[in-house]
Amino acid sequence: MPDGTVRVMKRAAKGGFTFRKPATDDGTAIHELIARCRPLDENSIYCNLLQCSHFADTCVVAEEGGEIRGFVSGYIVPDARERLFIWQVAVAPEARGNSLGRRMILEILNRPEQGDITELHTSITPDNKPSQGVFSSVADFLDADVEQKVLFHEDDHFDGQQKTEILWEIGPFDMEEADRPLEDVA
Ligand SMILES: CC(C)(COP(=O)(O)OP(=O)(O)OC[C@H]1O[C@@H](n2cnc3c(N)ncnc32)[C@H](O)[C@@H]1OP(=O)(O)O)[C@@H](O)C(=O)NCCC(=O)NCCS
Repeated sequence: MPDGTVRVMKRAAKGGFTFRKPATDDGTAIHELIARCRPLDENSIYCNLLQCSHFADTCVVAEEGGEIRGFVSGYIVPDARERLFIWQVAVAPEARGNSLGRRMILEILNRPEQGDITELHTSITPDNKPSQGVFSSVADFLDADVEQKVLFHEDDHFDGQQKTEILWEIGPFDMEEADRPLEDVA
């Protein structure tokens, strides 16, 4: 990726939001943000701290005025190093509608150290229209195909206690070809 492109993607964007990797100081703020973002699962603060440390390279926070307004957690799939799995996307209710969900995901993909990623996977429950909107928007931006299949079934895997999670497979894509100035992303 050309250096200039990375520089453009990293600067402060629409709405005064800035993006950065999370740090362990962010653990409790991220935990509180997720608690405000139903229907997301609230994991332990310990889990959030692991995301902020071991998985910081594939997670992002969005800040405005020093406050965390958004968080995306993800990881590289251990047996498929070209694949980023997005675990959770959380945008504070007061910050929604600023393309933050989409822009945070693209911020991870634009990091120089993530240049080998060509596939994006996530799972979404069939009733989560906002999440479907975010990932459809990301796929559009990447000009990538989307395939869907059952990942975890509500009866087979959740014993009827949670809804079926549908795996969204987005890709393949090439970030250098997909790349556009941040003004187009926002
Ligand atoms: C889902 C969520 C992250 C969206 O955040 P956001 O920053 O407002 O989303 P964006 O502005 O990036 O929207 C991206 C696309 O999704 C669409 N979208 C966003 N919210 C939507 C909604 N409630 N219904 C339908 N589409 C929606 C937008 O229209 C946009 O589409 P476009 O690019 O074609 O215009 C936020 O609503 C949230 O935190 N919800 C609770 C937690 C959750 O469900 N997370 C997702 C599961 S991991």
